[in-house]
Amino acid sequence: KDKVTIHSLKRLKQIGQKICMVTAYDATFAHILDQSGADVLLIGDSLGMVIQGHDSTLPVTMDQMVYHSAAVARGTKRAHVVADLPFMSYQVSVQEAVRNAGRLISEGGAGSVKLEGGAEFADTVRAIVRASIPVMGHLGLTPQSVHKMGGYVVQGRDEDQARQLVEDALALEAAGAYALVLEGVPMELARTITQKLSIPVIGIGAGRHCDGQVLVCYDLLGMNPDFKPKFVKRYADLHGSITGAAQVYFDEVRQGAFPDDDHSFKATKTLRAVAPA
Ligand code: KIV
Ligand code: NA
Repeated sequence: KDKVTIHSLKRLKQIGQKICMVTAYDATFAHILDQSGADVLLIGDSLGMVIQGHDSTLPVTMDQMVYHSAAVARGTKRAHVVADLPFMSYQVSVQEAVRNAGRLISEGGAGSVKLEGGAEFADTVRAIVRASIPVMGHLGLTPQSVHKMGGYVVQGRDEDQARQLVEDALALEAAGAYALVLEGVPMELARTITQKLSIPVIGIGAGRHCDGQVLVCYDLLGMNPDFKPKFVKRYADLHGSITGAAQVYFDEVRQGAFPDDDHSFKATKTLRAVAPA
């Protein structure tokens, strides 16, 4: 299996083959998801929520993104690895954006970076691309703008917003973005944008007409029974599996059933002299 590149991803759009993307935050999950056939692994700033326990992505720092990116990159053989630029790492100035994007590549081992925003970030995208760092855009429900949006609300439902989103998508493509994540928008609008762009559009809560799909790995694996937004489908019940396994382990420890002889080391002759039975 050849390494996935930004060029092979564009080819997948051209031949109408869906792109499979999923988040990963550590080497073990990256290894499993890579071996399972992921095309793209995203170190999402969603780690602020699912790893760190915050209620938004806003507290995530560059150092944390670099740390998790490096772990994911080490666990990945085939998939393309893309890392999120966290809140305030690219909004202040184009210079800071390029510097921080560079850190995700050189220290984090990622193959590209992702940032949230439309036409207003075209110059930033252009500058990062000029530094030979591929950029994935992210439009629609952009979690770093939670306060501006007034919550995690579906975007592009009214005519003006929809028109603006189409414009933003075209601006990102023109600025040199190699792909676009479209989050939390009506499926009809996602279809229009997907058809208008020649770069791959990867949807989350954006319906079936996108060129690919992305989900947070903990969501599709069913790690949190209390988080069930409309766009998430659970393909496993890891919350149940982990709970069951842990309960059996704790029971066996309390009953003295674990560890048994099979899971214990036997003393050697020499040791037996020192520590008789
Ligand atoms: O941070 C994240 O996990 C993301 C995806 C949901 C697209 O940005
Ligand atoms: Na993100």
